Parts: sequence; C-alpha cells; structure tokens
Amino acid sequence: MAKPNVLVTRMVPQENLDRLRERFDVEVNTEDRPLTREELKSKVKGRDAILSMLTDTIDGEILDAAGPKCRIVANFAVGYNNFDLAAATRRGVVLTNTPGVLDDATATLAFTLLLSVARRIVEADKYVRDGKWTGWAPLFFIGLDVDGKTLGVAGLGRIGKNMARKAAAFGMKIIYNDVRRDAELEAALGARFVDKETLLRESDFLTLHVPLIPETHHYIGEKELAAMKPTAVLINAARGPVVDEKALARALKDKVIWGAGLDVFENEPKVEPDLLGLDNVIVVPHVASGTTETRLNMGRIAVDNIVRVLGGQPPATCVNPDVLKK
Ligand SMILES: NC(=O)c1ccc[n+]([C@@H]2O[C@H](COP(=O)([O-])OP(=O)(O)OC[C@H]3O[C@@H](n4cnc5c(N)ncnc54)[C@H](O)[C@@H]3O)[C@@H](O)[C@H]2O)c1
Repeated sequence: MAKPNVLVTRMVPQENLDRLRERFDVEVNTEDRPLTREELKSKVKGRDAILSMLTDTIDGEILDAAGPKCRIVANFAVGYNNFDLAAATRRGVVLTNTPGVLDDATATLAFTLLLSVARRIVEADKYVRDGKWTGWAPLFFIGLDVDGKTLGVAGLGRIGKNMARKAAAFGMKIIYNDVRRDAELEAALGARFVDKETLLRESDFLTLHVPLIPETHHYIGEKELAAMKPTAVLINAARGPVVDEKALARALKDKVIWGAGLDVFENEPKVEPDLLGLDNVIVVPHVASGTTETRLNMGRIAVDNIVRVLGGQPPATCVNPDVLKK
C-alpha cells in the first residue's frame, strides 16, 4: 500500500523531516522562500497532510486544491490567523498549531526588545561602529529605567504570562488586560487587571500578546498611542496588523511615545519606510520563536499531530475542535 503523502511548505529542522520520512512520502520546499499562492495550490494536490508555515494562507481554495484525501494541516506556529477555520471544518480537515513550546523564546525576544529600546542598544552600537565615540559623557545615550516601572500586558495568555514573570524579576509592576481574568497570576505576581484605557494610560512599557483576530486588528492605532505616556515604549511580538504601523511611525516621529520594539509588521516582509528612518524604534524580522530548541519543539508538535491524525487518532493541539465531533 502506498504511504501517505505529506507536503512540508518550507524547510524545518532535519530531525522533524527525518521523523516524517520514517512513515510517509514527504515533499519539502527546499527553496529559501515561501511558496507562491499558485505553487502552493499546485503542490498541495493529492496530499494526505500539509505541514504549513504562518506565511501560507490556508483557505477553502487551497483545501479544495488539496482534495478530499487531505486530513490535516499542521501549522509550524502557535498563531493561526493564516487559517480559515470554518472552511477547514466544513471539509473535515483538522488544523493544528504549536502552543506552549515557544513561550520562553517569544517572551525572551519581547523582553530583549524592551530592554534594548529602553537602553538604546542598537543606536549606541551603531554610534561606536561608525567611529563617532569620543569618550564618556554624563548626558550621553540616556535611556529609561526598567526596574520598578509598570509593564502593561495586552493578552495575558501563555506568552503574556511568561513575559509578566520575566518582568516581575525586574521588580516591575504588572497590569494587564484580557477578555478573561487570571486570578492565579494576579495572586502570584500581584498583577492587576485593568480596562484597556487604564492599560494605555498607566503602562511604562506596553507589550502585545493578543492573537490576530478581527477584534484585535489595529488594537493600537492613533487614538491609543495618544492615550499612552510620552515616555512609554510599545513592544509588538504578536502579529503586525495588531498595530496600525503608519500611526505608530507618526507617533514615534512626533515623540507621542518614547520608543518601540517590533518583531512583526503589517505587510511582512515590507516595513513601513517611515519607521526605518527613526532611531527610537528597533525592528527585527519576525524571529521571536527562532531558537534551535524551540524550532525543533515546534516541529515535533506539528509532526506528532500529523502522525496521530493519519494514524486515526485525535491531534494534541487542534484549533478547530468542532471537526473532531464530525
Ligand atoms: N512573533 C512571533 O514569532 C510569535 C511567536 C509566538 C506567538 N506569536 C503570537 O502571539 C500570540 C499569542 O500567543 P499565545 O500562545 O500566548 O496565545 P494564547 O491564546 O495563550 O494567549 C492570547 C491571549 O490573548 C487574549 N485575548 C484574545 N482576544 C483579546 C482581546 N480582544 N483583548 C485582550 N486580550 C485578548 C486571550 O484571552 C489569551 O489570554 C499568537 O496568537 C501569535 O500570533 C508571535
């Protein structure tokens, strides 16, 4: 009997591929770029499973191109705004993500951005390399204190909580907004639940960890930026469209807020050109979960889910659980 057939839309760690190849016929996109929409449409044809990236839009058209054999699309990411859940559920296709294993790496990158913006690390590094440094000076590259300041967390889920715990080690006060309260974290860290207005008004550092859903599109725009402190720093390691990037560029230019650290962008890989001319923003290319261990673990979850579903078992991390009731 022919082995089930799996498409992997971009290179993942070798160990993940080896495990898939033990059981399945596997085709991998080995080019160092995402598949185009047309390539994806043609490559998914006749597959039993797809291991997808956050850059692949998986909707009804792609699932129809894959055909009726396709039983699972396993995303190599915890965020799954690239999935059309209803379209997959209607077609009986299981969708999965990789929650939990990337909390440390993602929060560490978000915290790195926070510290680097506060202490102007990138700007200062460039200054030295450019040969401009002439010696110590008392009012030189003055930054912001972090210790004892207030961290606002928008979206106190797995990554938001991890960020709050890291901030607590810096003696930061934690405030948060979410659609649900977390009594356990409030007790453990003295975190305070606040409404969005208070979050914007009181945060010295505001870090975004909400999923990208219609309700969080442009969660931070011109009005929200105007409500923040002029000394505030915004960190976005969630998804680009959670922030109105043009409004942010204006706010940074006009010093409406002090600075920003961004891992994600509205139209990746494009970055709002106005941002790139500013010193008070640090931009990195969507690398928050990018550590050796974390990417391997993300791949392990995706592969486990494919093995389970093609073996007739429920996946460990389904994001359209209604499909399992069918
Ligand atoms: N930059 C990266 O590389 C990277 C890496 C991992 C995750 N992410 C992003 O981070 C997001 C969060 O991941 P997670 O694992 O912590 O998810 P999670 O589901 O554990 O947490 C999300 C939290 O946001 C809350 N939330 C939802 N809608 C809200 C709203 N309107 N207002 C306030 N809170 C709201 C949820 O209740 C939940 O507590 C992912 O969806 C993904 O897009 C980005």
